[in-house]
Amino acid sequence: MGTRLLPLSKAVPKELLPVFHKPLVQLAAEELAEAGIEETVLVVSPGKRALETFFHPDPQLEQTLRTSGSQQADAVAAIPRLSRFSFVEQAQPLGLGHAVLMAADGIGDEPFATVLPDDMVLHHTSATQQLLDVFHHYRGCVLAVEEVPAERINQYGVIDGTQVAEGVFRINRLVEKPPPEEAPSNLAIVGRYILMPQIFEALRHTPPGAKGEIQLTDGIALLLEKQPVYACVLQGRRHDGGSPLGLLKASLDVALQDPQSKAELKDFLASAF
Ligand code: G1P
Repeated sequence: MGTRLLPLSKAVPKELLPVFHKPLVQLAAEELAEAGIEETVLVVSPGKRALETFFHPDPQLEQTLRTSGSQQADAVAAIPRLSRFSFVEQAQPLGLGHAVLMAADGIGDEPFATVLPDDMVLHHTSATQQLLDVFHHYRGCVLAVEEVPAERINQYGVIDGTQVAEGVFRINRLVEKPPPEEAPSNLAIVGRYILMPQIFEALRHTPPGAKGEIQLTDGIALLLEKQPVYACVLQGRRHDGGSPLGLLKASLDVALQDPQSKAELKDFLASAF
């Protein structure tokens, strides 16, 4: 619902808020496309039709841009071609597990990646690709994790795992939003997952948990009784795109990768301090 981003997110879906020159959701779609994923199901809350508009081709806009010689024409045309997009509306905010379950028909009986666009991870190998590399080795669910300080651990799903390779854990237990004294480790789940299709059956049997919502973490905990689940410690810098400061830091991080913007920002920041 984007409550931490109000009033920004009152009329604009938070997924369309900018990270420098692109909306969060475009960065997520590009990450999936670069990882070779060809079909995308977007599970959206009501009133987020703008997301459909964003991924829909707009031949008139493209034509206008081409006629005027704008360099943006190709960039705009590339957006709908990133994937075969379909949309499912989650009528009520019943939880992340419920949202994933709503994509079951669109996905079918195959492993799939799940991305929460407001978790932004910057690295030359994307977060989804890092998880896929682990998936190809172990052929089971893989969750992204990172170390989080104790005072913030209660905002996340947290794992207890046994290390099986550098940065890879086999999960023994996982718990959603534990109080710090009950957290099994400092490894928190980040919004990237590779999931086996059996997760849908597990989610159908998952009762509401933390915050009264059907939690994906609880569904994965049920699945863990039937098959191994792994965690991969992500490489890269993560930004919380669900908060104003996180969005600003993400924008700065992306802008600083462009030499021209970097030079301008350097001058601006130097004059501001
Ligand atoms: C969700 C998940 C949580 C995960 C987090 C990552 O929580 O339920 O397990 O750690 O995303 O950002 P939310 O941020 O939706 O409360």
